[in-house]
Amino acid sequence: MMMKKEKLFTHPEKNVVTDENLSLNNIPFNEVIKDWIKDYTNDIISIWDKSGKLLYISNAVQRILGYHPSDIVNWSWRKFLNKEDANIILKNIMNPNNKEYQIESQIPQLNGHYIWCHVTIIKHRDTQTKKEYYIGFIKDISAKKEVQRLISYSEKMSIAGKLATGIAHEIRNPLTSLKGFLQLLQSGVKEKDVYFDIMVEEIKKMEAITSELLYISKPISNNIQKEESIITMLLEVIELLRPEAKLKNIIIELDTEKAENIHIKGNKSEIKQVFINIIKNAIEAMDNQGTIHIIVSVICDEVRIDVIDEGIGIDDDQIQRLEEAFFTTKENGTGLGLVICKEIITRHQGTITYFQNKDKGSTFRIILPLLKR
Ligand SMILES: Nc1ncnc2c1ncn2[C@@H]1O[C@H](COP(=O)(O)OP(=O)(O)OP(=O)(O)O)[C@@H](O)[C@H]1O
Ligand SMILES: [Mg+2]
Repeated sequence: MMMKKEKLFTHPEKNVVTDENLSLNNIPFNEVIKDWIKDYTNDIISIWDKSGKLLYISNAVQRILGYHPSDIVNWSWRKFLNKEDANIILKNIMNPNNKEYQIESQIPQLNGHYIWCHVTIIKHRDTQTKKEYYIGFIKDISAKKEVQRLISYSEKMSIAGKLATGIAHEIRNPLTSLKGFLQLLQSGVKEKDVYFDIMVEEIKKMEAITSELLYISKPISNNIQKEESIITMLLEVIELLRPEAKLKNIIIELDTEKAENIHIKGNKSEIKQVFINIIKNAIEAMDNQGTIHIIVSVICDEVRIDVIDEGIGIDDDQIQRLEEAFFTTKENGTGLGLVICKEIITRHQGTITYFQNKDKGSTFRIILPLLKR
């Protein structure tokens, strides 16, 4: 279809947009805009009535989701979203203070595959008819998500590599004692059972730490969120990071008195990656021996995880730049750790903040919504 360009310039004086004529009906190239929206925009533009029924959708829906526009007119908006995101959107858009809401969501295509999209919903009240509408913009962000996934994976691998030194140490110690016990057993020592028990314990230690390392090296394969225990995830991460801390004489203390047996809905692999990044940063911020306190507490329907270090702290200049991609003060840092943490936590409807401690070091605070039962 050709764009009717000539129409664009028929009444130039009327093209000035003021408050009075801020309606498509007052603009002479109305039809051209409609055609352009219908055929040329890369994003899906859609209009829904107050009850959530689809009134109009641009042709981009065929390219992005595979549906022909005429086949889906009158569909309910809920058919385009997974149940959870639909509920979040509903809650936010029903709030009279919100005129607009944005979310990243996985939307089903006609072929059953899900695709990452950025969705913007705007409430619109037609000044003439007084009718309310919702205008939805849907942007395909699958390419951006794939890049994020790759960056996130390479960061994970880089962390796994960096942890290897500490872990090699941690494994060498039990191996040395295992070797010693085997030699004792070979020499015909009597109290064999005692030695066997210790050997099994040592092997269990090695097993735990190597399986943690393998777990974090696995690519993030899905976005499935399940019920997960915060304390279990923290304990597993601490297990992995303790060797690194031990090399610097740093103790990691976990205080869960104010929050036992609490669960969130989340992707275990991703949440653990956040804990690893934050605790590893805390270890790296400390030159000498000291303690990292991890305090978990429940506040209303949220869980708060404070990672408090005794390190060099963050000065005002740095605080502005912490969330910048590639900002690092470390020789081997990627400067992506916190960027990825922020992205993961935001996707889990949480927040991540940081501040300087009064005496020494800094605190990184993660807040996540608790699972409602
Ligand atoms: N606990 C902390 N104390 C002091 N500075 C910190 C702390 N955590 C982060 N920073 C600062 O923020 C910067 C960015 O951290 P980020 O985790 O994003 O990347 P990185 O640690 O430098 O690299 P990588 O995570 O790849 O090892 C760090 O280089 C450091 O200067
Ligand atoms: Mg880091």
